[in-house]
Amino acid sequence: MVTINDMKTIQFSQLGDERGHLVVIEGEKDVPFDIKRVFYIYGSDEKVVRGQHANRITDFVLINVSGTSKVRVVDGNENQYVVNLDRPHYGVYLPHMLWKDMYDFSPDSVLLVLASTHYDGSEYLRSYDEFLKEARASE
Ligand code: TYD
Repeated sequence: MVTINDMKTIQFSQLGDERGHLVVIEGEKDVPFDIKRVFYIYGSDEKVVRGQHANRITDFVLINVSGTSKVRVVDGNENQYVVNLDRPHYGVYLPHMLWKDMYDFSPDSVLLVLASTHYDGSEYLRSYDEFLKEARASE
């Protein structure tokens, strides 16, 4: 079973100089998968909870490139971990089969998400009970 111990926070190198900062993320080097998809979430306020799903196949890296948000991750044993995404050079690697809630978005939050697959809605588990059942069956 995938557990919250399989998550990993990532500190990206900042290639800054007097002109400002630059962060480079290369697939299979700076993140542990080949990047197939990029999307970003903005305009969500502090009352919104996004995510609320698990993915059977896709691994993700989340980075707040502007502003801040939090992600709560739950595994099939119902152990939880909360990551504060609060720096543009800091991310979290979330392997597949972990339940995710994103919340506490600051008004300037831009949450960048790198994904290991192209989008396929059928690999999403949007029922928490179904997620627990499938996660526990994979023990
Ligand atoms: P959703 O998964 O609900 O967003 P979040 O996890 O951030 O709360 O996605 C919102 C809509 O966007 C939904 O209709 C599916 C669609 N979508 C895509 O078409 N491709 C994608 O890569 C993603 C992440 C979502």
